Amino acid sequence: MGIKTYNYNNTVTKLINLYNKKGRTDLEKKFIEILNVVEQELSCSAHSMDHILRVHKLCLYLSKYEENVDKEILSLSALLHDIARFKEDSDSTRSIKHEVLGGVMAEKILYERNYDREKIDKVKHCILCHRYRSDNKPETVEAKILFDADKLDAIGAIGIARAYMLAGEFGQSIYLNISPEQYKLNNIMENGRIKDFGKHSVNMEYELKLKNINKRLHTEKAKEVSRKRLIFMENFFDELRNEVIK
Ligand SMILES: [Fe+2]
Repeated sequence: MGIKTYNYNNTVTKLINLYNKKGRTDLEKKFIEILNVVEQELSCSAHSMDHILRVHKLCLYLSKYEENVDKEILSLSALLHDIARFKEDSDSTRSIKHEVLGGVMAEKILYERNYDREKIDKVKHCILCHRYRSDNKPETVEAKILFDADKLDAIGAIGIARAYMLAGEFGQSIYLNISPEQYKLNNIMENGRIKDFGKHSVNMEYELKLKNINKRLHTEKAKEVSRKRLIFMENFFDELRNEVIK
């Protein structure tokens, strides 16, 4: 495992400037503490601190095009949304849902830092609804933005890079040359979750989820960004298929 050093100063300063509140020092301290807690809970792979900071940045970008966004709720949700991801990935029983456990963990972290019940519940809603493979639908503008930002980080060049990071961790093939229908019969459970990650592949992830992800996005700006990223992916998988098959 390599040594990771993150410079939180830029992130924290941006967050503080957003709220334009008095008592900067307290707020600054809270955010640094939260970032440190999050970093300790994450792996070094596709759901690393890099992912969290990219999603946070995308959230702020998308929020510029939406009205009545509570940026404090949005920032806290972005920083905390995958806090239970490593716990889910390393759970051999496959029963942990990171969006549910993540909400519980976030609640504790925020409660301990004196956030009020209303803010905690808003952040929990965002975390609960950010997952693609879930029936929980985002209802607030902050939850919609977090969902969209998280999905944008799963597509395009960055999406491919992240998917292969995960694929390497689980020993997956570079390319599975079977139909998506055949694959689903073998390795997808009734609830849509993957049975065995070792038998998954990035091109199946693309076929079953990523190539249609724009249909699930909520904000117009995210849909616009997704178009370019999805064209890049389509070209990538066409070329990959050519190189592997021919
Ligand atoms: Fe995420």
